[in-house]
Amino acid sequence: MNMDANVVTLIHDNGSSAKIHLFGATVISWINDNTEQLFLSTLSKMDGSKAIRGGIPVVFPNFGPWSCGPQHGFARISWWKLQKQEKLEDCVRATFVLEENDHTLSLWKYRFRLTYTVELRPQELETSLSISNTGTESFDFTALLHTYFRVSSIKECSVTGFEGCTYNDKVTKEDGRVENREKIHVDANVDSVYISSGTKCHFVSSQGRKIKIEKQNLKDTVLWNPWSAKAKEMSDFDDEGYLNMICVEAGHVSERKVLQPGEIFGCGQKLKIVN
Ligand code: BG6
Repeated sequence: MNMDANVVTLIHDNGSSAKIHLFGATVISWINDNTEQLFLSTLSKMDGSKAIRGGIPVVFPNFGPWSCGPQHGFARISWWKLQKQEKLEDCVRATFVLEENDHTLSLWKYRFRLTYTVELRPQELETSLSISNTGTESFDFTALLHTYFRVSSIKECSVTGFEGCTYNDKVTKEDGRVENREKIHVDANVDSVYISSGTKCHFVSSQGRKIKIEKQNLKDTVLWNPWSAKAKEMSDFDDEGYLNMICVEAGHVSERKVLQPGEIFGCGQKLKIVN
């Protein structure tokens, strides 16, 4: 039994589990075959005072620095409501909802409804986000699933699926670079926004384990690891934590999506352990 009232736990008959914190509807754990698949900083605040550092924070309505409010928007720093928790034939599922409230309206004047479902299946975690414009004015946004994968050693890890993509390198501040590597090995601070990486899958491999990321309607992908110096600058990031994580973030971030009143934008990702 989970004693933390702010955490929803999904347990599958096969023994796998997932935990979702109501703060940000942040998936904070996914255990498959007795192995944690997501990175969560041991220094992460879990009391709602700061975005959770790890797992899968939901970024909306803005990726990156934002003129209306905090970096990466308010979805990850809002308390969501658990709408439903169900056991279906092949999966266990929890559905969370966030709608405009005094805090969001103080930053961003629009009415919206976010519905986020987390589905746990054997060898698979699927997270789906539906963004609905429930107001009378159009709005625009960027959105992203900021997944922190746990890896046993970043030095033994590779990420694929970017070859041929154009990307903006936020570390060197060079836009429009073209990726020529089939497999990316991270050995320094990386912060790259791959534009229209499209329906390509990414594989995160780390010491014999491979996770396939299948994106749905999220055309871009961000690759991020702060590396040593930047990790030390973050109060909620373990100094050595960068050695055990890689963020591969499926998003719609390279251009803003316009949503008319009544329109819905659906997107998501399936994370599948393929070996
Ligand atoms: C990534 C951005 O998505 O998130 C980086 O591309 C940023 O630039 C990183 O540093 C972490 O952001 P935050 O706000 O959680 O510290």
